Amino acid sequence: MVVAPKSLFSIPILLLFSTFSLASSRASFNVLDYGAKMGGKIDSSKAFLDTWQAACASTTSSVVYVPKGTFLLGSKTTFAGAFCKNNVAMQIDGTLVAPSDYRVIGDDGHWIVFWQTNGMVLRGGILDGRGANLWNCKKAGKQCPIGVTNLAFSNSNNVQIRGVTSINSQMFHVVIHECTNVNIKGFRISAPGDSRNTDGIHLSRSSNVIVTGSTISTGDDCISISPGSSNVLVENIFCGPGHGISIGSIGAQHNEGGVQNVTVRHCTIQNTQNGVRIKTWAKPSSAYVKKVIFQNVTMVNAGNPIIIDQNYRSNGQTSGVQISGVTFQHIRGTSSTKDGISINCSRSKPCKGITLHNINLSFGGQPGGTSCSNVFGRNVGTVVPAGCIKKSTWK
Ligand SMILES: *[C@@H]1O[C@H](CO)[C@@H](O)[C@H](O)[C@H]1NC(C)=O
Ligand SMILES: *[C@@H]1O[C@H](CO)[C@@H](O)[C@H](O)[C@H]1NC(C)=O
Ligand SMILES: *[C@@H]1O[C@H](CO)[C@@H](O)[C@H](O)[C@H]1NC(C)=O
Ligand SMILES: *[C@@H]1O[C@H](CO)[C@@H](O)[C@H](O)[C@H]1NC(C)=O
Repeated sequence: MVVAPKSLFSIPILLLFSTFSLASSRASFNVLDYGAKMGGKIDSSKAFLDTWQAACASTTSSVVYVPKGTFLLGSKTTFAGAFCKNNVAMQIDGTLVAPSDYRVIGDDGHWIVFWQTNGMVLRGGILDGRGANLWNCKKAGKQCPIGVTNLAFSNSNNVQIRGVTSINSQMFHVVIHECTNVNIKGFRISAPGDSRNTDGIHLSRSSNVIVTGSTISTGDDCISISPGSSNVLVENIFCGPGHGISIGSIGAQHNEGGVQNVTVRHCTIQNTQNGVRIKTWAKPSSAYVKKVIFQNVTMVNAGNPIIIDQNYRSNGQTSGVQISGVTFQHIRGTSSTKDGISINCSRSKPCKGITLHNINLSFGGQPGGTSCSNVFGRNVGTVVPAGCIKKSTWK
């Protein structure tokens, strides 16, 4: 039986909230009044920026309002918040489309950027990166731009993102970079399972981040938590297709930050390449991953449901990233790969304090297997498949 994910039930309610207008309590600045053109053919990026500037200069709370309709943002569009006189919000009832030719912005890093904002609320809207031709270019092995992220928040504090939909991004859908206090709710992400590098939500060097009630179907990690991130809660996510929910890759550079205090709970991961994963480069590093819990996650035909891989791009070196204090609790369901539990840690820095607590994963109606090395920890309750941590070796 396929268990209906909780997240699917919570989303209609969240969408309902997303239609609450921010306009009632704020001075509203409509992009149409600043020259934006509906129809998706005429570049409206300057009009959007002019609207933002006007809203920004307001001394009372303001909202940039984007009505129903399709608008082309034909170049990288950066909404800069450092000099705003209020905490500008943006309510999007329409659809924003990227240029149909990916080469126009493909090397610009990001398409829509919010930079140095404080107290920003972004609500509603569909962001369409029109990435299909770029993925095809990459698939064909041609020279192609790396592609842009649909949406980036950078160097911002107290961010709320509500009921936004991101589709067909060229690269990552959403990047949260060097932000604190970020709350993402009711996000919908969609791109085909074979679209390259289309991570759903990518966190880097950010702290106090909550992602809840979101549905992510894409071609790479549904959520990737990269170095320098801490205090992250991921809850009620439906993921699939995609590469699962990942911490990593960690340790690409020697002295980059670690990741700590991450909770992932009440998620459903379906028809994915991986389930819940920690991935580190096999090279010297002073980074770490600690205090992580994956809890109450249902796997439906997920590959590698529980996986720690410290041998990413190994060329004979071992990973210097210390992984410690990681709990997998109430992880159940079906695996599409033989090994339901695969914990392959560094020979030079074995994993410590790994807890497997009430695990029940099956492969083709059988318990399946495990493949584990350099792991110290303990089993609590029932652990199926058994054999990863042979006896409790608590370190
Ligand atoms: C760990 O992260 C969660 C979620 O952001 C936060 O609520 C909690 O306070 C953090 N714990 C510590 C010890 O910082
Ligand atoms: C997690 O799952 C277990 C087993 O199904 C259940 O007993 C427990 O209540 C769940 N925890 C939460 C916080 O929902
Ligand atoms: C594991 O799950 C299977 C299938 O849902 C069930 O038949 C089995 O009893 C469970 N095993 C344990 C130890 O809970
Ligand atoms: C662990 O990683 C090493 C090095 O890449 C590899 O040779 C080995 O097969 C892996 N073991 C498991 C159990 O995955």
